[in-house]
Amino acid sequence: MAMLNILIFSLIFYSSVICNEITTIEIDGSNLPETQGEVSSGKKIFKINCSNCHGYSAEGLTAPELVGSQKLSGDNVSKTVGNYWPYAPKIFDYLKRAKRNQNDEYFSDQDIYSITGYILKINDLFEGEVIDKKKLSEIIMPNRDGFINLSN
Ligand code: HEC
Repeated sequence: MAMLNILIFSLIFYSSVICNEITTIEIDGSNLPETQGEVSSGKKIFKINCSNCHGYSAEGLTAPELVGSQKLSGDNVSKTVGNYWPYAPKIFDYLKRAKRNQNDEYFSDQDIYSITGYILKINDLFEGEVIDKKKLSEIIMPNRDGFINLSN
C-alpha cells in the first residue's frame, strides 16, 4: 500500500513538473510570483513578439487591439484589456498561458510582468516603470464592477 502511495505521488509530482503546469493566478493577485518586470522592457518584448499581430502600438492588426479606455457605453465601443477586463492579475495569468516568444517558449515571469506593465501603461492604468505583485494587485480596473455577479 505504501509503495502504491509513493508511486501515485511520484506520478502526480513528475507529471506536473514535466508538463510545466502553469499556476492559475487568483483575481486578487495573492499568488502572483515574487519577481518584477519593467515597462520599458515590456515595450521591447512587445515590438518583437506581439506587434506583428496586434499592431506596432497595440492598435490592432490581424489580432484585436489591446489599447482603449473608452467607456463601454454602446455597440460601437470595442472591448479591450483596458476597458473590459475586470482584474489586472488576470492579464498576467492570460499572457503566461496563452503567449509564446519567437522560439515558441513560454515567457519568464519577469517578462510577463514587463509585458503586463506595458499593456497597462498604454491603457493609462499604470504610471510607474517597475511592476511587481503588490503594484499589479493594487490596480483597480475601470470595468471591475461592470459585471453581473451570478453567485449571489
Ligand atoms: C500570431 C498572432 C499573435 C501574436 C504573435 C500575439 N497575439 Fe495576442 N492575440 C492574438 C489573437 C488572434 C487574439 C484573440 C484571441 C481570442 O479572441 O480568443 C489575441 C488575444 C490577445 C489578448 C486578449 C485580448 C482581449 O481583449 O481579450 C492579449 C492581452 C494579447 N493577445 C496579448 C498579446 C501579447 C502581449 C503578445 C506578445 C507576447 C501577443 N498577444 C502575441 C494573436 C496574436
